[in-house]
Amino acid sequence: MTYAEIAAALPTTARTSIDGLAFPHLASGKVREIFDLGDALLLVATDRLSAFDVILPDGIPGKGAILTQMSLWWFAQTAGVIQNHLLPDQPGEFSRRGIHDRDLQLRSMIVRKLKPLAIECVARGYLIGSGWSSYQKTGQVCGIPLPPGLRQADRLPEPIFTPTTKAPKGQHDEPINDAQGTAIVGAALYEKVKATSLALYRLGHERAHAAGMILADTKFEFGTDAAGRLFLIDEVLTPDSSRYWPADHYAPDQSPPSYDKQFVRDHLLALKWDQKPPAPRLPADVIARTQEKYLAALRNLIGR
Ligand SMILES: Nc1ncnc2c1ncn2[C@@H]1O[C@H](COP(=O)(O)OP(=O)(O)O)[C@@H](O)[C@H]1O
Ligand SMILES: [Mg+2]
Repeated sequence: MTYAEIAAALPTTARTSIDGLAFPHLASGKVREIFDLGDALLLVATDRLSAFDVILPDGIPGKGAILTQMSLWWFAQTAGVIQNHLLPDQPGEFSRRGIHDRDLQLRSMIVRKLKPLAIECVARGYLIGSGWSSYQKTGQVCGIPLPPGLRQADRLPEPIFTPTTKAPKGQHDEPINDAQGTAIVGAALYEKVKATSLALYRLGHERAHAAGMILADTKFEFGTDAAGRLFLIDEVLTPDSSRYWPADHYAPDQSPPSYDKQFVRDHLLALKWDQKPPAPRLPADVIARTQEKYLAALRNLIGR
């Protein structure tokens, strides 16, 4: 679908729950609802938004559709690097399975049932966020020594792989080093997801750059099938799983504004909320500006 078609089809109110589907409900993530289609899964992205790992009471209208359509675009871009969990004919799968609701289709993917690896595969090309905090304390990120004298948001000499554990709901993922990652998934798979994550990051950085954005860092998830084959799963290279900066606002020594929840985070920080549920309601202008940010990222990528 084109950017204009997607933008025109977005709902005006946020859809934060998915009710009335006939399929068995398997699980709720922070953002997505997972249904069992028997031989496949239906992954539905709601308009929910989480900040500091807490789900906010207000959603962002259309966010689920925007992020799903962006993931579909990236899955096509990355197909030469690694196969992914999408069943090949998405429109055909929807009609075969009786999913005719247009809003639901836009926010959904029909995917293979795979076994997610128990690590989150983070790749970084810039020194920001938890990487910057760690570097200031130890000169390292996830056990990887970096040159001295780097500034906040500096580009790294090479992209690095900085995986984390997959923490249960409500807890924070913890950074791990190569040895810990190898212990969790095994040496062969670890080497493979490390190399693949770095290759995907490089491709993502290049395409984002052509679209006027910097891909500072991102998180991938991988899964295996019964035969042990590796697939890219989940969402990919969205503002929820990645940190994108507008290239023309980038400068080291500061934290550039990003294409996601920056307004929401700034608003919540100003309120001095203790970051424990329940989270406060969001004002309408914060919701509108956040939706515009998500749309701008989609427009930059696929609207050219
Ligand atoms: N193809 C797949 N097979 C099985 N599980 C998947 C697949 N793709 C994604 N998942 C899982 O579905 C969930 C997506 O929901 P999400 O709202 O992102 O959850 P979370 O709060 O864990 O981020 C994740 O736990 C992810 O690991
Ligand atoms: Mg997720």
